[in-house]
Amino acid sequence: MSDAVFELDDISVHYGYARALEGVSLRVGPGEVVALLGDNGAGKSTLLKVMSGAHRPTTGRMLVRGQPVEFRSPRDAATAGIEMVYQDLALVDAMDIAANLSLGREPLLRGPLGWLGFINRRAMRDQSQAELDALGVRTAPVNRSVEMLSGGQRQVVAIARSAARLPERGVLLMDEPTAALGHEQTELVEDLIRTLAAQGTSIVIVTHNLPLAFSVSHRTVVLNRGRKVADALTADCDGDSVVSWITGASVQLDAAR
Ligand SMILES: Nc1ncnc2c1ncn2[C@@H]1O[C@H](COP(=O)(O)OP(=O)(O)OP(=O)(O)O)[C@@H](O)[C@H]1O
Ligand SMILES: [Mg+2]
Repeated sequence: MSDAVFELDDISVHYGYARALEGVSLRVGPGEVVALLGDNGAGKSTLLKVMSGAHRPTTGRMLVRGQPVEFRSPRDAATAGIEMVYQDLALVDAMDIAANLSLGREPLLRGPLGWLGFINRRAMRDQSQAELDALGVRTAPVNRSVEMLSGGQRQVVAIARSAARLPERGVLLMDEPTAALGHEQTELVEDLIRTLAAQGTSIVIVTHNLPLAFSVSHRTVVLNRGRKVADALTADCDGDSVVSWITGASVQLDAAR
C-alpha cells in the first residue's frame, strides 16, 4: 500500500511524563476522508499538530507521497501539500471574501503600480469566484466583507482558503470544523468536504459529531489515551462499537496499523 498520500509510522508525543500519543501509525489515501475520533484528551489535536508541522513528534517518522519528511514548521508542511484549516484565526473580518481567499497570493497590477505592490482587485475577485465555483460553494458575493457572514459560511471560506493553497492530491486537516455550527451550517461544511474528496484531496477531520463522521468519512480511526484503538472502513462500523472504542469500553481487536 505505497499509494498513501500521508503515512505516519509509530508516532509518539511525550510532554514530560505525559504521553499524549504512543506509537500511532496511520495511512491516508488519495481522496480519502478519515474521521479521527476520541474522547477529550485522547490525543486528536496533538496528532493533527504533528501532521501539520506545528509540533514535532518525540519519536516516529512520516512520509508524504512516499518521501520521508520532517516538518519544522507549518510552512514545511504546506510545502509538502499539507494544510491545516484554522478556524477563528484564519479570516480577517474587515476584508471581503476574495481578499481573504487570496491572502498572501494576491494578483498584482501590471507595470509600475504592481511593482509597488498594488493589487489587481478585479483579477482577485475573478480568481476567488473561480475557486469557489470549482468547489461548488455559493456563500455570498466575493466582495462581501467576512464579518457579514454566518458561522457556517465563514467556516466554508476558511476551508476553501486552505484548499486553494493545496497542490493536487494534497491533504487538508480539520480540527472540529463544525463545533460551533448548527445543523444546516454543518451541512455546508459536509458538502464541501465531499466535493474536495471527490476532487482528490485527502481529508483528516477531528470531530465529536458522530453522525457527521459517519456520513462524511471513508475510514474511522479512534484514539484512546494516546493510542490508536480502532482503524476501520466506516461502512464496516456501527455506532455502538464506535462509541465503545471512544469511551474505552472495548478496542477493535484487529486494529490495523
Ligand atoms: N502543551 C502541552 N503540555 C502538556 N500536555 C499537553 C499539552 N498539549 C496537550 N497535552 C496533553 O496531551 C493529551 C492530548 O491532548 P489533545 O489536545 O491532543 O487531546 P484531544 O483529543 O484533542 O482532546 P479534545 O477532544 O478535548 O480536544 C491530553 O492529556 C493533554 O492534557
Ligand atoms: Mg482537541
